[in-house]
Amino acid sequence: MSKKKSIISKFSEGNSDETIQLVEIGNVKLVKKSWKDKIRGSEAIKKQILFEEIISGQVRIKTPKVIDTYLDNEENFVALMEYIEGFSGSELHKISTTQLANNLRSALSLVISNFYEESAFKKIQPEIILNKLDMVREKTKLKDISIYLNIIERYILKLKEINIPLGSCHGDLTTSNIIATGSSTFYLIDFLPTFLDTPFWDILKVKQDLEYGWSTRHLSGHVLNNARILNEFLIPHQIKEFHENFGEIGDLFDSINLCRLAPYVKDEITKQWVLDKLTYSTGKLL
Ligand SMILES: Nc1ncnc2c1ncn2[C@@H]1O[C@H](COP(=O)(O)OP(=O)(O)OP(=O)(O)O)[C@@H](O)[C@H]1O
Ligand SMILES: [Mg+2]
Repeated sequence: MSKKKSIISKFSEGNSDETIQLVEIGNVKLVKKSWKDKIRGSEAIKKQILFEEIISGQVRIKTPKVIDTYLDNEENFVALMEYIEGFSGSELHKISTTQLANNLRSALSLVISNFYEESAFKKIQPEIILNKLDMVREKTKLKDISIYLNIIERYILKLKEINIPLGSCHGDLTTSNIIATGSSTFYLIDFLPTFLDTPFWDILKVKQDLEYGWSTRHLSGHVLNNARILNEFLIPHQIKEFHENFGEIGDLFDSINLCRLAPYVKDEITKQWVLDKLTYSTGKLL
């Protein structure tokens, strides 16, 4: 007997190439995520499946179980996964307790360390980055970005070699991609394939989110203040050590990470945010 499938609600359109729905199959609630780009979808889900649970003290870091994957009639890649009831992103500011905040900071730190320990330093070809910057230039409507892309390109061309840790990473490690259930169990969602797999991205995404204030850019007044206080508290030690450990190569990758946001700029606040942070970050490469 085939089980009845119904859509309960749409979580978000994500960026226009992805959709997320809460569906019910039989009596079980599942999350259905579809990608127009089937390669990106399958790579993202592969990262999710390969992630091994981390347990340290009372902190547990897991991923929602993937129940099924398939190509639908329109050739979208579809993944059905466990629905996790909990809180993520800006909701965390409302429910946060000291215990949750402490554990979430440990969780961020553990994810970063785990991927970092599995990585190995290797020399990369500058073309890998230069090609990515060209793609950013093509895809973005934000004309002002050119100044910053030029600074980064000039900097790269002066380097004798680029030696960085290579290995898997989450790819979009922000608090909106972590679901907290209770105060010590955290689920990582929304893994992102990247043009260059390095644990640097996880460090830099956390920095972008918590230190630079990506996820709070639309907030104001006391809501912004509360969110800032929690974000400041959540910053794991690797963020503070990053620039001490990696110097200008760290600054370079910070700038590249910020440039990758340009094609997603859709409003004035985000535009100003990206340009401000890039002015700061690329200023160190001059
Ligand atoms: N397995 C899940 N269980 C419960 N909620 C989920 C699950 N997956 C996603 N969600 C909810 O849907 C939201 C959006 O999901 P997700 O982060 O995967 O995509 P997105 O952020 O919209 O996409 P993108 O970041 O690529 O634009 C999450 O913040 C979370 O609230
Ligand atoms: Mg997300």
